[in-house]
Amino acid sequence: MTTNAQPRTQWLGRWGFILAATGSAVGLGNIWKFPYITGEFGGGAFVLVYLACILAVGVPVMMTEIALGRRGRGSPVDALRRVTAESGRGGAWPLLGWMAMLCGFLILSFYVVVAGWSFSYLWKMLSGGLDGSSVDEMAAIFDANNQSPLNLGFWSTLVTVATMVIVGKGVQAGIERSVSWMMPGMVLMLLVLIGFGIFSGGFMEAVRFLFSFDAGRLSSEGMLAALGHAFFTLSLASGAILTYGSYLPAKTSIARTTLSVALADTVVALMAGLAIFPVIFANGMSPSSGPGLIFMSLPLAFQAIPLGTLFGVLFFVMLSMAALTSSISMVEATVSWLCDNKGLSRRRASWGTGLVLWLVSTLAMLSFNVGADWTLAGRHLFGWLDYLTSRWMMPLGGLGMVMLAGFVLKHETFREELGLSPVWHALWLFMVRYVSPLGILMVFVDALGITRV
Ligand code: PHE
Ligand code: NA
Repeated sequence: MTTNAQPRTQWLGRWGFILAATGSAVGLGNIWKFPYITGEFGGGAFVLVYLACILAVGVPVMMTEIALGRRGRGSPVDALRRVTAESGRGGAWPLLGWMAMLCGFLILSFYVVVAGWSFSYLWKMLSGGLDGSSVDEMAAIFDANNQSPLNLGFWSTLVTVATMVIVGKGVQAGIERSVSWMMPGMVLMLLVLIGFGIFSGGFMEAVRFLFSFDAGRLSSEGMLAALGHAFFTLSLASGAILTYGSYLPAKTSIARTTLSVALADTVVALMAGLAIFPVIFANGMSPSSGPGLIFMSLPLAFQAIPLGTLFGVLFFVMLSMAALTSSISMVEATVSWLCDNKGLSRRRASWGTGLVLWLVSTLAMLSFNVGADWTLAGRHLFGWLDYLTSRWMMPLGGLGMVMLAGFVLKHETFREELGLSPVWHALWLFMVRYVSPLGILMVFVDALGITRV
């Protein structure tokens, strides 16, 4: 049913796509970002909007992306070119693919810095560098870790190299093979940690914080953040899911896979919140401490409990693996584009991409030390990369894709790819035509202040 001539690699195992896509989705977004932005935007109300965005926007967009990838059997740029051509359309639609590829790349350039924090904390945990008995001491350790560009750069470089090594090995031998042991390992470790969260005191307060929806009205900025995070956490509009979808065997059900990935991602985020906020409340720490939140709070808890070092090591191993299974998905689009269009081998494509990535990520890393003053409108480079990708590029890319699917492409394309019953298909179509685009537009309009004139 696909339109291209040369066969494309496919996932080897039945679980290949599910593991890889879940690996991409579940990452620092769930464990590092979700708790800290929930804290910043005040808890329950933010969580509610976020969950609504996952359902009304995230799920339909993910189905659309996987279908586009499988239909077009290529990187986002190539896939979009093929599917629009197949429907007799040309035009600027492949630009969406370029934006997605750029977006994945830009995300990775700050993501490796945070993943680097995780690796460095794993090392500290093992070597005893996390001794401190108060939130202030932990904050001092976090700051000190950021002060030296050499130290921070070492860890983010390590993550960059690890990512490119895996991606360079290819879809089956690199990506599929690595996620097939990292994902089960992660789930096991997470379960242990939840048990830990339940018994650590402050659990009920955390539940109240996350789920009491009358926590005050949410700001426009909070809504934009919730929408952006729904995209970020599901790896949407950044080339990752579309490219992984391009390796999906024809028989796999896209709807079912999407629901499992979205559910797993949501459960992990909520579980992370339930593991982290008890510690924060039990220690009188402010939930709105920003990006350092988990690094300043959890180590404190690990010290206070029996076998704490063991739990701490487990946690940072899990976090580091979660980061890697996501980071590899962010460059897969670019690497596959280079291989398909520039005739590069996978290894060369990976190292080339990695080199450019390393330069940008090094600049982003400097935001925490020598470049702390290089700001524009109050944001440093790290902040800009995060802000532009999550709040603007991903929702815009998602908007473009649902419009393309809902109004431009032939209906046959999606009937065949999604293979849904008429009722479910109609529901999907209604979502991509009206609910998702209006949801995205409303949040944009609100954020731009138009409704408050
Ligand atoms: N979904 C990942 C996370 O939550 C981040 C990500 C974004 C991965 C975009 C791939 C593409 O950590
Ligand atoms: Na996620």
